[in-house]
Amino acid sequence: MDIGDTLSKLTLDEKIELISGADFWCTKAVPRLGIPSLRMSDGPNGVRGSRLFNGVPAACTPCGTGLAATWDVDAIRTIGQMMGTEAIAKGASLLLGPTVNIQRSPLGGRGFESFSEDPVLSGKMASSIVQGIQSTGVVSVIKHFVGNDQEEQRQKSDSIIPERALREVYLLPFQIAEKEARPKGYMTAYNRVNGIHVSENPRFLQEILRDEWGFDGIIVSDWYGTYSVAEPINAGLDIDMPGPTRWRAGLAKLSVNSSKVSKRALDQRIRAILKTVDRVASLKLEENVTEGTVDTPETAKKLLDVASSAIVLLKNDRNVLPLDKGRTTAIIGPNAKFAAYSGGGSASLRPYYVVTPFDGVQTHIQSLKYALGATAYKKLPMLTSITKAPNGAPGMEMRIYAEPHSVKDRIPIEKFNIDNSSCFLNDYKHPNIPSNLFYVEVEGAITPEIDAEYLFSLTVNGSGRLYVDGEEVVDNETTQRPGDSFFGSGTAEEIGSKHLVRGQKYNVLVQFGTAPTSKIAKGGATQMGVGGLQIGGCAKTDPTVLLEEAVAVAQSVDQVILCVGLNSEWESEGWDRANMDLPPGSDALVEAITAANPNVVVVNQSGTPVTMPWVEKVPAIVHAWYGGNETGNAIANVLFGVTNPSGKLPLSWPVRLEDNPAFINTRIDGGKVLYGEGVHVGYRWYEKIKRDPLFAFGYGLSYTQFKLENLAINDNPEDSSDAATVTISIDATNIGSQDGSEVVQVYVAHQTTTVQRPLKELKGFSKVHLSTGETKSVTIQLDKKYACSFWDESADSWVLEQGTYHVLVGNSSQNTTLQGQFEVQQTRLWNGL
Ligand code: BGC
Repeated sequence: MDIGDTLSKLTLDEKIELISGADFWCTKAVPRLGIPSLRMSDGPNGVRGSRLFNGVPAACTPCGTGLAATWDVDAIRTIGQMMGTEAIAKGASLLLGPTVNIQRSPLGGRGFESFSEDPVLSGKMASSIVQGIQSTGVVSVIKHFVGNDQEEQRQKSDSIIPERALREVYLLPFQIAEKEARPKGYMTAYNRVNGIHVSENPRFLQEILRDEWGFDGIIVSDWYGTYSVAEPINAGLDIDMPGPTRWRAGLAKLSVNSSKVSKRALDQRIRAILKTVDRVASLKLEENVTEGTVDTPETAKKLLDVASSAIVLLKNDRNVLPLDKGRTTAIIGPNAKFAAYSGGGSASLRPYYVVTPFDGVQTHIQSLKYALGATAYKKLPMLTSITKAPNGAPGMEMRIYAEPHSVKDRIPIEKFNIDNSSCFLNDYKHPNIPSNLFYVEVEGAITPEIDAEYLFSLTVNGSGRLYVDGEEVVDNETTQRPGDSFFGSGTAEEIGSKHLVRGQKYNVLVQFGTAPTSKIAKGGATQMGVGGLQIGGCAKTDPTVLLEEAVAVAQSVDQVILCVGLNSEWESEGWDRANMDLPPGSDALVEAITAANPNVVVVNQSGTPVTMPWVEKVPAIVHAWYGGNETGNAIANVLFGVTNPSGKLPLSWPVRLEDNPAFINTRIDGGKVLYGEGVHVGYRWYEKIKRDPLFAFGYGLSYTQFKLENLAINDNPEDSSDAATVTISIDATNIGSQDGSEVVQVYVAHQTTTVQRPLKELKGFSKVHLSTGETKSVTIQLDKKYACSFWDESADSWVLEQGTYHVLVGNSSQNTTLQGQFEVQQTRLWNGL
């Protein structure tokens, strides 16, 4: 495309059209000039496509922390490429990921989406995934730029970040990705940073990103993440998403006509958009193309490889692991027959398939005993898991109507089956539905396997009632209680119950009206227009009985796999966790099962740390993140030694929530969240205050042992130029009895400077596979200026300071047995990349 020529032919009205979304996922087209509409899709751990519910199935990778736990840049590049291919199948030329915010605290609702507490690990992972995605021609939209490190009040909170921390911790992952991978898209964060919303902050969008780093791609807002008309356009925000826009129609034109927005600023936005259109033209994606899948054995293999390599072996006393297939085995726990494959919110997607730990383990052991032990749901489980639609298919039937439920003989505009009764309707579109106001019926039948009291629930952004055989069981309409559902726009869960008789068929009907029928005025910044509903239901259980049954099962076998953890209800976009604990009942379950059987392996699944008060009593602990489609197979392969675990923690695992560096500065206070720990995030904090975490950053065991030796540092002390490097090499040997992989981690320390620095900081790493007895020389090249510099606030630049730098090499932040040093002879200030 001749961008200058096209720009000159666009009318003001067309330009104003182009700078906002056409609908929830697409940009606007100008057909007369051959400018097509582009589709965007989330997100960080897969490609959902353009439907928030009932979407076209997709591959789901481990969550961000899981991907980072591989410490394997090549594997992550492969995953990026796989995601790019899936984006193309879904007709999307812009992929909304990766997420590279920082886990200041274990409680961040989206901590699972981001890679690491460490900016270098995060930046390297981001670079690899962006390289992979963009190798397919798809644009990677890295997010959320910057300072959106928690969910509470995310649109109005002000992240007060000291300048050094901003540069050295929060901007650095973006900077590294920019240097190594050149993502062609950025998504702005919802929040303010140091007083100004990022989406309208010229310092971030123009001065740092475009001028300092030389970014030449497109900047899109987070969804409903703009709060004014002229400011974001002037600051450099190219596209306001989603459409229809709140700001960028008549008001934007008025802003141009009144010179609140200069024609030059508008043209810069258009240039970025046209450049992106041009960039993805070679993909030849048709507009409104039907979404496809890449559900192949090759995809499954990649997903299994990465999920397996993400798993971290935290503890293995008495070599309880790998398990012996010849021994009697039970699998117990709320996450045994439930695949915790992803966290919640916009990262979630409809997976091609999921493998539960139970299914995965059963492929290794035929006669497997099972007990639930405790439930772990926050809201009732999806009703669709126990219902059949009127046509007999699993799930329920959904019918969409333009008229309210009171209208007799109304005809549905559309009807289809759903297999997941969490239905966020915001991107639902139908030509016969002209506004946000429409009505929905959801219907299915239950034939209970037991006589029991059944619980039913409705959570809505809108209003709804649930009937069982015509009898009203849940009313979430007459009175409504605000809750955190639907990214904070919806109600709390309303629960009702009814006794159901085994073998009898019951009809369940839900009648729902979209958001305009809601009685609660949320008044939030997010106007989640259309709304949504979640229908829950299950037989009521007695916690004491569940526990007793599980203990009896545990006592009857030689070894127990105990699957606990969080899930997409506990870790999700829209809110932060209230505490660091497992769901109520899980700790008691671990204690009871551990007392009942000496050979217990706890498999924990969560995106961020959980408290483990029972840690000393349990002989073996495996941490398996949210593992994507292949969750259960990956876990089973580690448990039975098919995979030798090689994951390492990408974040520190505190003993108690109170230990974490952001503990007193996590909640929003007076509209602000103070990043009081400064640069001392994660292990930098635990090391400085001499408080041991439960498991350290970079830590993870293997079924074999490795020896690292012969550290050599190759450096020219006189060279502090832009291109200066330091080469670190060591010999790594597998001295154990199984093949395996080790992560060699290089930390750098410098204590003689004018500013307070962490005791050491990760600057490079390499994952190496070694057969039994094998030795390999591992070489890690550090970019000297990135390895040594700090941000000098007074000079407004990076400083590569003269002095002696210590190099610490090992296999975790707490185990750096090899030490050496190198010199920087001349101080140098630098900016840019
Ligand atoms: C999230 C983004 C996401 C967007 C579109 C927002 O709520 O913060 O990360 O890409 O929705 O789903």
